[in-house]
Amino acid sequence: MTFHETVPYENSFLVEGKTFENAGHVSRQVKTLLQKMKFSKEVVRRAAIVTYEAEINICSYAERGKIVLRVTPKQINIEATDEGQGIADIELAMEEGYSTATPKIVHMGFGAGMGLSNIKRFSDEFHITSEVGKGTHLEMVIRT
Ligand SMILES: Nc1ncnc2c1ncn2[C@@H]1O[C@H](COP(=O)(O)OP(=O)(O)OP(=O)(O)O)[C@@H](O)[C@H]1O
Ligand SMILES: [Mg+2]
Repeated sequence: MTFHETVPYENSFLVEGKTFENAGHVSRQVKTLLQKMKFSKEVVRRAAIVTYEAEINICSYAERGKIVLRVTPKQINIEATDEGQGIADIELAMEEGYSTATPKIVHMGFGAGMGLSNIKRFSDEFHITSEVGKGTHLEMVIRT
């Protein structure tokens, strides 16, 4: 399988909300796909981190969600859309250390309040919108 046979590439993955049963599966699949496409270690690592953080937030806070991966030779676009409680104050949620994690989430090893700020740090472009009671939408771009 050569690069030109696989790229451009698009795939969509469902993420179960309010459970950690399958947490991390989507980001692992995304990481494996990008490795097979022979992107650099650094690019794969950044894409895997932002996908993982978005996925865990869906598992933690949303009812259900979807992660769409779009790959062109120049960039990797990861879009995470969920249905759920949404975020009332995005600026606050983006702050390092801010978390509303429940004891269950903390018990799973999450809830440091670093996910969104790390997504921003590891993305070349990052957009977040949210509507309370409806859901949250993230768009991340990693330039290759
Ligand atoms: N998809 C989402 N739906 C609803 N609320 C969210 C979502 N993602 C993040 N939040 C809110 O924003 C806060 C900060 O998220 P962030 O990912 O930065 O930290 P965290 O998930 O609490 O901890 P960590 O990611 O370090 O394990 C969360 O505690 C939660 O209140
Ligand atoms: Mg998080």
